[in-house]
Amino acid sequence: MKNTAIVIGVLFLLTVTASGVMVYAPIEKISQKVKSEGYLPYTTDEAVSLAYERCGTCHDVDKVLLYCSRCGPPFIVTIHFMKKYIELANLDGGRLEPLTDAEAVAISQVWNGLIGNWEGDWRVQDMRKLLGSDQALIDLLETPVADRPIELSLADKAAPGSYKEQTQ
Ligand code: HEC
Repeated sequence: MKNTAIVIGVLFLLTVTASGVMVYAPIEKISQKVKSEGYLPYTTDEAVSLAYERCGTCHDVDKVLLYCSRCGPPFIVTIHFMKKYIELANLDGGRLEPLTDAEAVAISQVWNGLIGNWEGDWRVQDMRKLLGSDQALIDLLETPVADRPIELSLADKAAPGSYKEQTQ
């Protein structure tokens, strides 16, 4: 009798857990989609996970962590280039998910915050030229850091393995 009760109890718990997973997983997916389309803002933690995930698919994330103000243009421009690389890879038969505007804006803020933002060392018109018609990133470029919530919240942090730029 006791054993039957335990078995029923275990089965009950398993059922509850399984249905929880089935309901929760799609909600999680929908919420990711809503955020990638910019309808809801990313939290800082979500943006950081997104940055590590999306920027570690073609090359090691070390390439990002070791990037620096002497290496090339600010992240906002680099990330615009990476969008292009994704498009090129897909034209070549790749199956990478394109970076949406909201993702690119969130990821730019993450690396600016964790590694460094040297937009101030560059002429605005040069960066705008490099950004082409990427309006989402042009809008970000025109947004002061004080109004970039993700970047601001990471300003005191540094990514492990990077040499945080002291440019501000
Ligand atoms: C489509 C694949 C792809 C993805 C995804 C990708 N990259 Fe790249 N990345 C490249 C290629 C190709 C290069 C240039 C060749 C190289 O250096 O390996 C590069 C180079 C770089 C460099 C070095 C540039 C330089 O001038 O030294 C940085 C920094 C970088 N990527 C950052 C990022 C960031 C940040 C992300 C996330 C948004 C990202 N990458 C996502 C393909 C990609």
